[in-house]
Amino acid sequence: MTEPIVARTRDELAEALSRGEQESAVVLTMGALHAGHRALIHAARDLVGTGGAVLVTIFVNPLQFGPGEDFERYPRPFGADLAVCAEEGVDLVFAPATEELYPLGDPQVTVAPGPLGAELEGAVRPGHFAGVLTVVAKLLNLTVPSYAVFGEKDYQQLVLVGRMVADLDLPYEIVGVPTVREADGLALSSRNRYLSADERAAAPVLGRALEAGAAAAAGGPDAVLAAARAELTGVELDYLELRGADLEPAPATGPARLLVAARAGTTRLIDNIAVDLP
Ligand code: PAJ
Repeated sequence: MTEPIVARTRDELAEALSRGEQESAVVLTMGALHAGHRALIHAARDLVGTGGAVLVTIFVNPLQFGPGEDFERYPRPFGADLAVCAEEGVDLVFAPATEELYPLGDPQVTVAPGPLGAELEGAVRPGHFAGVLTVVAKLLNLTVPSYAVFGEKDYQQLVLVGRMVADLDLPYEIVGVPTVREADGLALSSRNRYLSADERAAAPVLGRALEAGAAAAAGGPDAVLAAARAELTGVELDYLELRGADLEPAPATGPARLLVAARAGTTRLIDNIAVDLP
């Protein structure tokens, strides 16, 4: 097991990048790494092979947290995260301080996510996706990878990042990776550690509801939503929506996406699943 190079500043990152001309793939994270992040790192390695470089960024981006959200208490187990990166054969970790990434203070010019940025998660978290896309653009432009790997867990984020690189001609290929789940279907998340025992017991209803919805696809969109809604007990629902694969209005037939957000206690959970409408 070789330790990854750790870059804390732009200069250290540029210096580390200048040492290799190989193809690279980056996994952008906020740390508190779990098996979902590991799956992204594996996908990154598969994309570039042993001759390429796998980069991981660890940065809790203040810009994407709203007032009253968990920015301060977001877990930052940096030592454990570095150990995960070493175990997974990551070549380079970029973990800048806030002032390093935003040296001029809050950015005045940011990436506008467009109408989709105000829907679903964006309706509940105003400004969230502008914050996400701005930091993603910065981190991609600093790490200049061939590929950037994102989880389907945050499906709207994946779609918006794909749209950003298309609309702004950013020269990076965006690759999506299926959601990694606990044995009971709960999607892994750094925030799951906030769940009390009771909340943890309630949380798997999201995964179960999505499974039930996808299994009802033969009955059409209304049947999908009804089957999913019937499972959603013991949590406070924020939204349950069926959309197209790019989050446009749901098609009558063909590939669609069922998305759910709900609160178990004070912890917000999101999840989604592919639905094939016959
Ligand atoms: P974070 O929540 O740390 O997630 C980093 C990446 O891991 C995202 O692409 C996310 O979709 C993916 N991921 C999280 N849980 C997963 C799971 N259970 N299965 C598969 N992939 C999973 O998403 C962010 O950070 C930030 O918004 C970021 C993109 C880093 C910008 O700040």
